[in-house]
Formats: sequence, C-alpha cells, structure tokens
Amino acid sequence: MKKSVEEYVRSIPDFPEPGIIFRDITSVLQDAEGLHMAIDEMQALIDADKVDVIAGTESRGFIFGAPIAYNLHKPFVLIRKKGKLPCETVSRSYDLEYGTAEIEMHKDAIKPGQRVVVIDDLLATGGTLEACNKLIEELGGVVAKNVFLIELAGLKGREKLKDYEVASVIRYD
Ligand code: PRP
Ligand code: ADE
Ligand code: MG
Repeated sequence: MKKSVEEYVRSIPDFPEPGIIFRDITSVLQDAEGLHMAIDEMQALIDADKVDVIAGTESRGFIFGAPIAYNLHKPFVLIRKKGKLPCETVSRSYDLEYGTAEIEMHKDAIKPGQRVVVIDDLLATGGTLEACNKLIEELGGVVAKNVFLIELAGLKGREKLKDYEVASVIRYD
C-alpha cells in the first residue's frame, strides 16, 4: 500500500534540547515519493486565483515554497534570517520553541495590496509566522494564508495566528 506523507516524517526525541521531539523533514525530502507528496499536498491547500505572491521562510520554508511558487507560476519572495539580504530591508525579532531569531525582507519584495501566501515546513509556537505576517503587512501586503507541512498543535501556534487563515498537511497533538 502507498505510504502517506506523514509516514516519511522522522521523530527524534530530545533534539536540539531535552524535552523537544524534533519532527525531521529530511526523511521526507530524501524519498522521491515523499518529496512529491509533501509539495503536492501543501500546494493543494492554496487557491491559486486568490494569491499574487508565494513567500518562504529561511531555511526550511524555502525548500517547499520555491517549488510551489514555480508550479503555480507565481513570484517567490524570501523571508531571510538577519544580515543576509543586500538591499533595504524591514526586520522583526521573535521567539521560537527553542531560542529567538530575527528575520528580514527586502522593502521592494511586496507591492501594496498584493495577496501573499507564506510557506513554512512546520508550525510550532507560531512566532516565526507571526513575525513573517507582520513584515508582509508592514510592506502593505495582505496575508492570504499560512501553509505548513507539519503543525505541532499542542504548542497552540494557531492561537498566535488567529487573525490569519492557517492550513497544514500533518498534525501532531
Ligand atoms: C523552525 C521551523 C519553523 C519554526 C517554527 O525553523 O522550520 O520555521 O522553527 O517554530 P515557531 O512556530 O515556534 O516559530 P528554525 O528557525 O529552527 O530554522 P530553520 O528553518 O532554518 O531550520
Ligand atoms: N521547529 C520548532 N520546533 C520544532 C520541532 N519540534 N521539530 C522540528 N522543527 C521544529
Ligand atoms: Mg524554519
């Protein structure tokens, strides 16, 4: 019988810190069928007629965001960790399940009124996507949806993203 995409995700206890169950996507990507299913099932959550731009968050969001943008024939915009983008940027700091970070976007990445779908591999606390959504809004964009391969529902990221439409392929409680 055909495996589901969920069966390709590997769970590693106590990484990178004691108490964290790390949901590893490398085991999805390393299998041609797993990679196809992940991209196709994330893409199926997007209504292409209601989006102008696909954005991806560094780094794991790039893996899924770029092929989806390519397939839908939409532009792809990078949301990068601080210090990587060469032109004028807007930036925002945020908290993660473990640690803190700061992300940036080019000021010319989004034009006012553009509808943006943000792609990431995984929703944990929602800190990353909340920061991404705020940056897009600061640039005048409209966040159409946040799409994930994996959602860690127990960390209540959806509550942090309650003002946005959120969809995921795989859910862990
Ligand atoms: C991980 C993951 C998500 C984020 C989710 O990224 O890829 O982007 O954490 O956590 P949150 O919902 O609590 O914000 P990470 O910053 O570890 O880096 P990476 O994508 O570069 O591996
Ligand atoms: N990013 C934040 N929390 C994570 C987890 N539990 N597994 C994989 N990536 C993560
Ligand atoms: Mg990430």
